[in-house]
Amino acid sequence: MKHKVTFLPHKITVEVETDKTIMEAALAHGIELEHNCGGNCCCTTCHVIVREGEAHLSALEEEETDRLEECAELSATSRLGCQVKIRGDVMIEIPERDPFRLDGLDELENFGEELLRSD
Ligand code: FES
Repeated sequence: MKHKVTFLPHKITVEVETDKTIMEAALAHGIELEHNCGGNCCCTTCHVIVREGEAHLSALEEEETDRLEECAELSATSRLGCQVKIRGDVMIEIPERDPFRLDGLDELENFGEELLRSD
């Protein structure tokens, strides 16, 4: 059975088989969704926000819940795209990544302050 998955913000709708993950749905249709750990629930780069059809997705597992707590832009309907399985029509938002939210940002800020001090 196929289900419609609409990806925001570009409003691209694709059709996928039951129990495909959101990550699989995106990548199979050329939709960019970061997945730094390769879908092993070890990062949060595949974070998505469910905008419609939350009941049409697999339930949150403990591992996903724990990992989501590390997510900077956590919302009430946040999920990890590599963990959540599609079981009906859904609308999913892929959040914009802040290019300045990088690991080591604190070091970068300190570096900037040191530069100012050295003037
Ligand atoms: S790709 Fe790393 S948790 Fe989903």
